[in-house]
Amino acid sequence: ARFSVLITRRVPPKAVRILSTSPLCEVQQWDSDDPMPHAELLSRVPGLHALFCLLSDRIDEEVLDAAGPNLKVIGTLSVGYDHIAVEECKKRNIRLGYTPDVLTDATAELTVALLLATTRRLFEAAMEVKSGGWSTWKPLWMCGQGLPNSTVGIVGLGRIGCAVAERLKPFGVERFLYCGRQPKPEKADRLGAHFVPLPTLLAESDFVVLCCSLTPETREMFAEDAFRKMKNSAIFINTSRGAMVDQDALYSALQEGQIAAAGLDVTTPEPLPTDHPLLSLKNCVVLPHIGSATVATRTSMSILTAENILAGLQDQPMPAEVVLQ
Ligand code: GLV
Ligand code: GLV
Repeated sequence: ARFSVLITRRVPPKAVRILSTSPLCEVQQWDSDDPMPHAELLSRVPGLHALFCLLSDRIDEEVLDAAGPNLKVIGTLSVGYDHIAVEECKKRNIRLGYTPDVLTDATAELTVALLLATTRRLFEAAMEVKSGGWSTWKPLWMCGQGLPNSTVGIVGLGRIGCAVAERLKPFGVERFLYCGRQPKPEKADRLGAHFVPLPTLLAESDFVVLCCSLTPETREMFAEDAFRKMKNSAIFINTSRGAMVDQDALYSALQEGQIAAAGLDVTTPEPLPTDHPLLSLKNCVVLPHIGSATVATRTSMSILTAENILAGLQDQPMPAEVVLQ
């Protein structure tokens, strides 16, 4: 019996080949860089056995209902799976594959790039060169804080959080704090990171770096109150999910100088409209969700997604399966 598989976007061709050359699969693909309209997705899922999707596809109860009882496996080309109704998957015995580990290095690298870019004001400075604002070498111009002797607070010391801390050490960061659901003594000892309550982390960090996944507990975790607790010189970095941040509160905090700057790779919505107030601020860098965007990483992610799907269809252990609890 052939299994019907839908790939919801143009993805690295190796992944498509893995699935389309398998005698098990009958593959259809939305061969575009633009998302499948939700209505199109709904019309293509009935009878499907496997769905290869992206973080920008909303896989909700309606999609699962439309797919019907054949659907065995969903493979998302992402480490985050907040776009998928996991409770509903569990109820229906649909297995879920994702892409941890293979994107840790790339995402940690981009996170470090955002720390450097914000603290050394790279985008602001480069803009001055283009606009003619660079008049001469000025001792007091474009000065930032830099990383040496700083305290970095990591919210969520998971795979990516740890990789960020490792990469930051050689820059002379003095102290690492972290918070999360529970202390992680093994990882933390290796990094020399200290477990503290969130309010302490906010009050003492020069950089507050969001590295946790989006859950009901972390949604809008960064609102007015959190920014008020931070230092006026602090920089806020988010490379996880935009929904953890109340963007109006962030805008006010940046505008009023409650915090110094922000570097965001994720926003709500995505894309962020070009007239969004955050984009009018010099002290806010916004990137278009490119944390995992290296050629090698996207290739690895898509191969892993295809392998997850093949394993799931054959009732075998997946290389990377979300444990639905
Ligand atoms: C990216 O945001 C991912 O979840 O992989
Ligand atoms: C800077 O360019 C210096 O020479 O100090």
